[in-house]
Amino acid sequence: MERNEFLKKCGALCLSGIGLSALQGCKAAYYIPNTLTGNKLAVNKSDFLEHTWVLVKSERFAEPIYLRKLQEDQYSAVLLHCTHKGCEVNPADDYLVCPCHGSEYTAIGKVVHGPAERDLHKFAVSTDQEKIYIQL
Ligand code: FES
Repeated sequence: MERNEFLKKCGALCLSGIGLSALQGCKAAYYIPNTLTGNKLAVNKSDFLEHTWVLVKSERFAEPIYLRKLQEDQYSAVLLHCTHKGCEVNPADDYLVCPCHGSEYTAIGKVVHGPAERDLHKFAVSTDQEKIYIQL
């Protein structure tokens, strides 16, 4: 095998390995549609059937709201805006992590690892038969 051919094959192999490991670390974010009435964002419970958490986008905030199912008909909603210096926090399985300086929060927004010192902003959540309401 020629040196150039060897280097091309190694490069392609490395890139495919990097891509594979990056994909394994990613979990697809699932945005669900919502309607805003006054200060209440409403989402359909039926959009939650296959997910333990979803993202809800509101025009009022730059970052999405992380809506998580805690138990049957019990939900938590927090704004993914880091309380350290304002970066967008990322969902990572059962916790939330800020990519800027590494702060970590529980799935309900309680800070567990700094440099952030305050919990994420939490919204009141209520439900009825068909919908989940996030009070902005
Ligand atoms: S902005 Fe999130 S840890 Fe610094």
